[in-house]
Amino acid sequence: MGLDLNVATISLLLLLASTANAASRVFNVRNYGAKSNSDITQAATRAWKDACAYPGSSKVVIPAAKYRLGTVNFLGPCKGPIEFNVLGSIQSPGDPKYFKGDTWISFGRVNHLTVSGTGEFDGQGRTAWGRSGCSKTNYCIHLPISLRFDFVTNSTVRDITSFNSKQFNINVFGCQNLTFDHVTIKTPGNSPNTDGIHIGRSTNIKVINSKISTGDDCISIGDGSRDILIKGVICGPGHGISVGSLGKYHNEQPVLGVKVIGCTLTNTTTGVRIKTWPNSYPGIASDMHFENIIMNNVDNPILIDQGYCPWNQCKPQIPSKIKINNVSFKNIRGTSRTKDAVEIICSRALPCTNVELRDIDLKYNGKDGPATSRCVHVNPLIGGHQNPPACSIKSLKKKI
Ligand SMILES: *[C@@H]1O[C@H](CO)[C@@H](O)[C@H](O)[C@H]1NC(C)=O
Ligand SMILES: *[C@@H]1O[C@H](CO)[C@@H](O)[C@H](O)[C@H]1NC(C)=O
Ligand SMILES: *[C@@H]1O[C@H](CO)[C@@H](O)[C@H](O)[C@H]1NC(C)=O
Ligand SMILES: *[C@@H]1O[C@H](CO)[C@@H](O)[C@H](O)[C@H]1NC(C)=O
Repeated sequence: MGLDLNVATISLLLLLASTANAASRVFNVRNYGAKSNSDITQAATRAWKDACAYPGSSKVVIPAAKYRLGTVNFLGPCKGPIEFNVLGSIQSPGDPKYFKGDTWISFGRVNHLTVSGTGEFDGQGRTAWGRSGCSKTNYCIHLPISLRFDFVTNSTVRDITSFNSKQFNINVFGCQNLTFDHVTIKTPGNSPNTDGIHIGRSTNIKVINSKISTGDDCISIGDGSRDILIKGVICGPGHGISVGSLGKYHNEQPVLGVKVIGCTLTNTTTGVRIKTWPNSYPGIASDMHFENIIMNNVDNPILIDQGYCPWNQCKPQIPSKIKINNVSFKNIRGTSRTKDAVEIICSRALPCTNVELRDIDLKYNGKDGPATSRCVHVNPLIGGHQNPPACSIKSLKKKI
């Protein structure tokens, strides 16, 4: 009897051990031929394929070392939750001519993806930024984005670093329930069009506890973004945290629900802003709230700009048709690098509605000071402390 029980117990334990094994498996790129300082495109592609086909939790591991990686598309759907764990430093091809499309690495149609690890994605942007033909106006749009997430759901990206992307560092498209936690982005302040994280056509996206320094927007939120939370982000240098630009293209979807909370911006050209093109297609941007934000030496800390028209690519005299509604700026303080601390410039055709300014304290110490606040085609609700005095210049002009 006793012996029988023992045998039964042992076989049960063995069964449990084997199911535990079956439930989670590691796919190390080294086992697919990846070597330090070599190109691991094939190894990473094959490791992903096997991990994705594995009917349980799987983990692709890229151990600590330097590697080179060409264009790869890590595609789902996968048979189970999948983790992409990067401990090494992965280097992009330097020459922009290598790239046939505008992507270096993409993750597509994956549910329950985790990208993790203390490793880094090195976009080798220096070789691209100085390239001839890559001027301000053509935006270097044909350069590759370092990391794309397309139709990724219920997923997390944490701890990784992206630096020196040739174009955007990270692009989010068609995603749902994707969180970026403790991500670092490091790209020089003078690199063109290198947004940190661009979000578009996506719902329930969070960027939390992350540090972004770059040459364009730290975070930009494009059309079709809903329920976006940006919290605990440190940004700078860069162009700040932006909604838009909106209205340039036909059939854009509304932006609904953006919260930017507890962020610090240092040495950025703008702080928090909403930008829409003049002479635009119709659209909606609503329910956007900016709260508890510190500005250090920011050129234009608070900005709604419905006449956004860089390099005169548009007809600025024709007003924007994007309707902006339900926006608040609360508890925003620090220093402005120009006297234009608060500018709420709305569309003549569709004035902004339900805009609130509460507890604003932005100091400016220049000789042409003090800081000013300007409101055009908007009549914001004002509350709490206001430095500069809310809408000072415009309300005076209006009365005249
Ligand atoms: C979001 O994804 C996480 C897994 O990453 C999951 O636990 C959670 O239930 C998802 N939330 C929603 C609203 O789908
Ligand atoms: C994401 O997770 C939620 C909650 O677990 C689930 O309802 C939803 O179907 C998942 N999304 C996808 C695309 O699998
Ligand atoms: C901001 O700019 C000042 C003055 O140029 C510089 O001393 C400081 O290091 C910068 N801070 C960051 C975080 O870039
Ligand atoms: C304004 O936005 C907040 C946050 O999304 C939302 O809860 C609230 O209902 C909106 N207010 C109106 C009047 O739409």
